[in-house]
Amino acid sequence: MIKYSIILIGYMGVGKSYIGRKLAEELKIDFFDLDNYIELSEKKSISNILYEKGEIYFRNIENKCFNLLLKKKVKYVISTGGGTPCYSNNIELIKKNESLKSFYLKSSVTHLTNRLFYEKENRPLISSIDCKKELNSFISKHLFERNFFYNQADYIINIDKKKTSEIILEIKQKLT
Ligand code: S3P
Repeated sequence: MIKYSIILIGYMGVGKSYIGRKLAEELKIDFFDLDNYIELSEKKSISNILYEKGEIYFRNIENKCFNLLLKKKVKYVISTGGGTPCYSNNIELIKKNESLKSFYLKSSVTHLTNRLFYEKENRPLISSIDCKKELNSFISKHLFERNFFYNQADYIINIDKKKTSEIILEIKQKLT
């Protein structure tokens, strides 16, 4: 049994949920997807919460749900939303908890742009950006602001050009 619970952080589209689920399966521990947990507790999609109630409301609920998940009395993997570590006291919650190890799944602006351009419809923060060049510059600025938080993770894993199995292996190696 591993010693730590795991928190995955990183920008939209890096595969936090997919990788988190697989990792938890391999480690035989619980998996929680924060966005999914928020949707279940609010009985609304993230897009609808943002659209109907606005971002401040969403960030408060995100913080509340994250606090609840962190208190689970089991070992777990939590996949956060792209903005989670950058709002409220979420990064402090991660850093001060000695039973957690955090991983920043890092991808380049070019890779993120290519990936997100074709799957932006369900992502409320970028869905209205129509041109790839504009998306590239949005992500570039956004990452510049967010890297301050992402870089506080215990480990940084570069994910570009890697298979899921390689990323999972890298994470597992850091835990031993
Ligand atoms: C957000 C990312 C989303 C979701 C919300 C806000 C962000 O999660 O939490 O739309 O601020 O980057 P994913 O990273 O899972 O897409």
